[in-house]
Amino acid sequence: AAVCAASVYIVRRRMQSSGKWARVIEILRVLEEDCATPIAKLRQVADAMTVEMHAGLASEGGSKLKMLISYVDNLPSGEEHGFFYALDLGGTNFRVMRVLLGGKEGRVVKQEAKEVSIPPHLMTSGSDELFNFIAEALANFVATEGEDFHLPEGRQRELGFTFSFPVKQTSLSSGTLIKWTKGFSIEDTVELDYLFHFIPNLLHKIVGQDVVGELVKAMERVGLDMNVTALVNDTVGTLAGGRYYNPDVVAAVILGTGTNAAYVERAHAIPKWHGLLPKSGEMVINMEWGNFRSSHLPLTEYDHLLDFDSLNPGEQILEKIISGMYLGEILRRVLLKMADEAAFFGDSVPPKLRIPFIIRTPNMSAMHSDTSPDLKVVGSKLKDILEVPTTSLKMRKVVVSLCDIIASRGARLSAAGIYGILKKLGRDAPKDGETQKSVIAMDGGLFEHYTQFSECMESSLKELLGDEASGSVEVIHSNDGSGVGAALLAASHSQYLDDVSE
Ligand code: GLC
Repeated sequence: AAVCAASVYIVRRRMQSSGKWARVIEILRVLEEDCATPIAKLRQVADAMTVEMHAGLASEGGSKLKMLISYVDNLPSGEEHGFFYALDLGGTNFRVMRVLLGGKEGRVVKQEAKEVSIPPHLMTSGSDELFNFIAEALANFVATEGEDFHLPEGRQRELGFTFSFPVKQTSLSSGTLIKWTKGFSIEDTVELDYLFHFIPNLLHKIVGQDVVGELVKAMERVGLDMNVTALVNDTVGTLAGGRYYNPDVVAAVILGTGTNAAYVERAHAIPKWHGLLPKSGEMVINMEWGNFRSSHLPLTEYDHLLDFDSLNPGEQILEKIISGMYLGEILRRVLLKMADEAAFFGDSVPPKLRIPFIIRTPNMSAMHSDTSPDLKVVGSKLKDILEVPTTSLKMRKVVVSLCDIIASRGARLSAAGIYGILKKLGRDAPKDGETQKSVIAMDGGLFEHYTQFSECMESSLKELLGDEASGSVEVIHSNDGSGVGAALLAASHSQYLDDVSE
């Protein structure tokens, strides 16, 4: 049974339906109804996902699901060794790292990383400046290389580049940005301007460009000699990182600022792939599931308006009801309606409540997980964020219920997506009495830090799989898998693979 979305009933039962509260409860009730994800609905969503997966694999542009070919046709085995760099770009911060791989026995022998934030002014300048900045940061990082990281004579350094946006790949190490998705993950301290002005500006400049080509040119400009061996989506990196430690990993899901999944497909099940059949018979597919939409998705008036006001209207609909960039914003929109129409916060609407994205998902998570009897955290968050000096316990309970409704819907829909992948792979039920183990590697801030969300996702997946199958499916947290994963893919596709002169 679902452990999620339970508190609502309590609030509704205990509240007297008079005056302002009647309206508050009405708004709450409608939201709950519109967000409802009974198991039958989740099954419909999963089935629609499977249908779209087929369509996206059949032809280019055949579906809202792009089902992008990653050119990763063999995943890490554990044998990888040597020393590789990785670069992870998907937010306002990017990360550079180097790993020393020791083969089956040693695994990751040593790992060093540095996080660098992108200065806002770069967002308004050209993409050359951005790539210059990244290349310089990388060069500075290379300059701090210690003796442990020894590069054999005559070898070029190699890099795996994780780029967390939809890319149409032309090979493992080249591809163009199709479109931008999600704003960059923004810190609480960053001005909201950042989100509305700088991000589209920056990303628009890169759309259609060869991402690796731009990086390589910048590296040349700063005099850094490094080969970009692999360009991967964060889901693909996470899949590679997960598989490195666990051979049963068949898919990876990111639940973070954005949401997406990648999985291992049989190459012959990809009609749009006209290349050679890979030796492994397999190909990793980056689904870009954030762009999924279906008439079965439970959408509310708040979602429609959020989408309308967003930087990419009509796109990334699933992402807009699941991922960390949007959950807090949905909550804000419901609270604003309550404030407007039911004087929820008193006679006037708190001005801060009118500011888009002012409630960040980590704050929502903090309020949702408040277990103190008087919901102290909820009170103090509302005070800090919205500058509402006092709130009654009754009000706080309503806020927790809202968090619960919004987060549960997202969590249950992510479970439906995973179930859809398992169905596509024929791994949703034991086969001929045999249980094949299937492991899903998960990463992202939402999964990692929003406990109610991840617990609800896992219990809903169990619910979908039923007792018989749920034992063979395991969800694991692949911590920081995408960075290490990109380095591993650079290693397994190294230009020196045939070189035995270690
Ligand atoms: C967005 C991007 C996708 C990425 C996901 C998680 O959906 O389009 O490429 O994997 O966010 O970071």
